[in-house]
Amino acid sequence: MKTAMIKILFCGINGRMGKNTLETIAQSAAFSEKFKVYAGVDITPDQNAMIPVYSDIYKVPEKPDVIVDFSHHSALPSILGYAEQKRVPAVICTTGHSPEELELLKEAARKIPVFYSGNMSIGINLLTYLTRKVASILGEDFDIEIVEAHHNKKLDAPSGTALMLANAASKGVPYNAEYVYDRHSYRKQRSKEEIGIHSIRAGTIVGEHCVIFAGSNETLTLSHSASSRAAFATGALRASEYILGKPAGMYDMNDVLEMFDI
Ligand SMILES: NC(=O)c1ccc[n+]([C@@H]2O[C@H](COP(=O)([O-])OP(=O)(O)OC[C@H]3O[C@@H](n4cnc5c(N)ncnc54)[C@H](O)[C@@H]3O)[C@@H](O)[C@H]2O)c1
Repeated sequence: MKTAMIKILFCGINGRMGKNTLETIAQSAAFSEKFKVYAGVDITPDQNAMIPVYSDIYKVPEKPDVIVDFSHHSALPSILGYAEQKRVPAVICTTGHSPEELELLKEAARKIPVFYSGNMSIGINLLTYLTRKVASILGEDFDIEIVEAHHNKKLDAPSGTALMLANAASKGVPYNAEYVYDRHSYRKQRSKEEIGIHSIRAGTIVGEHCVIFAGSNETLTLSHSASSRAAFATGALRASEYILGKPAGMYDMNDVLEMFDI
């Protein structure tokens, strides 16, 4: 029996991730059968937009099944307000939220299902899981350093994903980790409790993350390379499917990973 299509309202539709998500759906027969982005919200007009785009989310006439957001952190209050009013789940993929905005997410999650992850790629979330696991096994004796590389348009450093990996490592180690960003201003030996975090910005690199566990006689490196933004679009679509019909609450990619039985 054919199941009904999932109707997505996409915030930030005219941006890189908006365009990539539309392409990801169009290029996959399975996704095209399952997902339909029927309307978008964006503050930047695009003459070539194939679907209706609204500058104000409250002007979208038809209720979505799910909202997917890849826009700007400042759009969060209106997205959550609309999602609560319409009683629809929201998949928030935008990064760079302030602590106050993160509080709004938690408040909304008391009333509606909210999915939030700074990195929607399945591979990165598996890397996060593995980083915590390896840190809990090797953390006492091995130094941990994280290196990330992104394209030259990226505004923030370190990446939210590098911080996510550092947080995972610090949960695994038996000490209170201290994050040290780059080392240009330091003239001292590294302490055992440090987790070093280093950023590279160059060209069109989509996203590289590497976690180094260096011991006295051996080094273990976990690494992930995103070759296309489709990795994030695919994760957001999987999250949209996952969150449908779920009770109010906060969800993230760990919930999706549980489907893989790890
Ligand atoms: N979670 C993840 O895996 C993941 C992956 C990639 C990007 N991101 C994040 O998603 C966001 C978008 O990324 P991008 O590369 O597509 O950026 P982008 O700048 O190409 O696109 C953002 C779009 O949002 C629109 N926009 C800005 N403010 C808005 C508002 N108030 N309301 C509606 N639309 C608004 C812009 O006009 C633009 O078209 C960023 O925060 C980025 O860090 C997250």
